[in-house]
This record gives sequence, structure tokens and C-alpha cells, in this order.
Amino acid sequence: MAVERTLSIIKPDATARNLTGQINARFEAAELRIVAQKRIRMNREQADMFYAVHKERAFYGDLCEFMASGPVVVQVLEGEDAIARNRELMGDTNPANADEGTIRKDFGESIEANSVHGSDSPETAEWEIACFFSRIEIIG
Ligand code: CMP
Repeated sequence: MAVERTLSIIKPDATARNLTGQINARFEAAELRIVAQKRIRMNREQADMFYAVHKERAFYGDLCEFMASGPVVVQVLEGEDAIARNRELMGDTNPANADEGTIRKDFGESIEANSVHGSDSPETAEWEIACFFSRIEIIG
């Protein structure tokens, strides 16, 4: 297993409920290190750009509106097999289908307000991290 980095976003539904610390504790308990982190509010153009891969999907407009509706915490997680490990911690996209003990099962409200985002491949992770962080902001 290689040490990887992945882009994580704690979404507006979770920041609104003051869950940043509880979610971060799960990452750290799973030996993912938070090597960069900032709380921002995306504007609609930034959300559209970040989720452009989904622009043909029916949910794209609502998703981007939601992601721009409040603060998010963007972060880089680093660790062995970080991309898959984070996806295991998050659980299924739809909280209703997520396994017990996953972040989305415990905190997610709906398929849209599902509390967290995580990169799905090394290529995506590299692109997503570069959307929010420069090299000098990532301190391993
Ligand atoms: P995320 O991991 O941020 O990637 C894309 C997001 O689209 C996903 O989590 C969901 O929150 C959101 N989404 C909304 N509706 C759907 C849907 N029908 N299928 C998949 N993702 C959806």
C-alpha cells in the first residue's frame, strides 16, 4: 500500500450542525492525517467548476447550489491507501444505503446533504486537491 493524499470536503449540512470536530476525529482514528485544512464558502461558479464532471446529471444544479449555500471545510487527508480508506469511512453516497458506523450513516441527511465528499481515484484526488490548495499549503 502506498501513502496517498485525498481531497475531503465537510459539506454545508455538517458545518451547520457543528460536526467538523467529530468528523475529523474519525479521520484521525483511522490514521488519516489532516495535512491541509481551511473553512471557506464556495461561490456558485466555484461549485460549478468543482462538480463539472456531473454537469450532465439531473442533480447538478441543486448539488452546486447546496455546496455554495454555506461554509465547507476543505482538507487534504494523507495516509496509507487514503483514497479507499476515506471512502470506507464515508460509506455509500446515499446515507440510507450506508453501512452502520460510517460518517454518512451517522450524520448524512440525504443523498445531497450527505455530510462529506471524498476523491474517488488518484487522478481525481490530484485535480481536486489543486482546486483548493497550493503546494506550500500542504504540510505533511
Ligand atoms: P459527492 O461525493 O460530493 O459527489 C457528487 C455528489 O452529488 C454526491 O456526493 C451527492 O451528494 C450528490 N448527489 C445528489 N444526487 C445524487 C444522485 N442521484 N446520485 C449520486 N449523487 C448525487
